[in-house]
Amino acid sequence: MARIAYVNGRYVPHREAAVHVEDRGYQFADGVYEVITVRAGRFVDAGPHLDRLDRSLGELRIAPPMDRPALRHVLREVRRRNRITDGIVYLQATRGVARRDHPFPAESETALVVTGSRRAPPNPGILETGVDAVSVPDNRWKRCDIKSVSLLPNILAKQTAREAGAYEAVFVDEEGFVTEGASTNVWIVTSGGELLTRELDHGILAGVTRGTVVKLAERLGLSFAERRFTIDEARRAREAFVTSATSFVTPVVRIDEAVIGNGRPGSTAHALFEVYARYMEQGDAAA
Ligand code: PDD
Repeated sequence: MARIAYVNGRYVPHREAAVHVEDRGYQFADGVYEVITVRAGRFVDAGPHLDRLDRSLGELRIAPPMDRPALRHVLREVRRRNRITDGIVYLQATRGVARRDHPFPAESETALVVTGSRRAPPNPGILETGVDAVSVPDNRWKRCDIKSVSLLPNILAKQTAREAGAYEAVFVDEEGFVTEGASTNVWIVTSGGELLTRELDHGILAGVTRGTVVKLAERLGLSFAERRFTIDEARRAREAFVTSATSFVTPVVRIDEAVIGNGRPGSTAHALFEVYARYMEQGDAAA
């Protein structure tokens, strides 16, 4: 079945989907994006993703490409036309096409591209093995709360991880605190049994999965705090895991040379994986 993409008002075959060479997203990374999971034929947390899109656009003073009902319609159409039951829909909005010049163009129309692809749902096999992570210096700009398509440090960090045989790279700031993963938020269970994830500020993305997992952790009655932790605390942690729209809840069993806990995913990651998988499948009522 041919994949279909939405590009600036048209649904086109994926292989023919293209944007203008002077799209400012292409030339300047002057744009933002969202990745929304589809599970069992429905979007997971579409509302919070679209709220964050509005916020990212607002911070960059890019006009919304269309109103929310119209955008939801496009997202549903891309899901439907690509027959995605489990997968993702990717949305990118840029400041549009203009002659190359750094300041904002006097006039431009926000460009919108939406693509979809099938992906496997959460695999409980990950609870047997977990994944490895490596730490890297956080050399990004100071507005990582904006979900910008400018991802060079993130892709370089991820490549470092891949070349080390690891799944994720964990960014560490100049004071030794973990900020987030290259494309995930990072969590630990301290040696004292406290579940931690960094508090929200301009240093990290407010992950939608993070927000949902916070809610689920509170419902489970876990001892939880939003507070920063150092890479040394993470290496000494009882458990670690990462969250995102595409990683769901993924246990981390090694950071650099340090084995986390007993080297197997722990009970907290286990519980949150399960409850989040159920939430994705059945919606909030099941949480
Ligand atoms: N990444 N931090 C960063 C830097 C991210 O790129 C992402 C998501 C997250 C988690 O956010 P969420 O839970 O809303 O997916 C945190 C997406 C999946 C990506 O770039 O593919």
